[in-house]
Amino acid sequence: ALKIGIMGAMAEEIELLHKHVERANSFEKAGITYVSGHLHGHEVIFCKSGVGKVNAAVCTQLLIDAGADCILFTGVAGALDPSLNIGDIVVSTSCQQHDMDCRPLGFSRGEIPFQDVSEWVADAALVDLAVRACEDLFPGRSMKGKVLSGDQFVASRELVRELHEELGGACTEMEGASLAQVCVMNGTPFVVIRSMSDKADGSAHVNFADFTVTASVNSHRIIDEMLRRM
Ligand code: ADE
Repeated sequence: ALKIGIMGAMAEEIELLHKHVERANSFEKAGITYVSGHLHGHEVIFCKSGVGKVNAAVCTQLLIDAGADCILFTGVAGALDPSLNIGDIVVSTSCQQHDMDCRPLGFSRGEIPFQDVSEWVADAALVDLAVRACEDLFPGRSMKGKVLSGDQFVASRELVRELHEELGGACTEMEGASLAQVCVMNGTPFVVIRSMSDKADGSAHVNFADFTVTASVNSHRIIDEMLRRM
């Protein structure tokens, strides 16, 4: 049977998983607590990632080393696509690091030097499963798109326009591309699911703070629905 890895950005969300998981077992490594157990008849292992690409990378590799066969990631993001509203959901088709920037050396924004691939494609079956779960729970409020990640809370209309126009991002956050890269390096399927907490503009910090609890509940409902259908 598959062991499903679940990584969340928010403590509230991991607490919800903890409340429902059966036969829970936990271990700690690199300061992160990993919990394994059973949910809807599946073997699962989950943890809170912490913020940023390094935390997400370490966490992802540890989930894979602990036997995760695929990884589902949920959290919040700032919307880049102007058609997205707060509360809408983006399911990753691919992820890229927007703060990888070696343009002075002639590389393009987001391009990792001397490497074939700089954009990590999500697993088509997991994307499809996530989209169908979102459409049932929140009709008309989800889209597929490219997720951009950087160690930066984006709160500028100027940067929003650049990231949307130059890199084609649907939303921006701080972990997805890191998880995606580590998953691809290991041959592990993944999908990133993000609820829009803000529009990455001047009001982003206020909207972000207001939205966390709602987002955690929504994320948990999506994961729950996906597991029921797997
Ligand atoms: N997560 C939620 N909103 C964000 C933003 N505006 N920038 C980066 N990460 C985010």
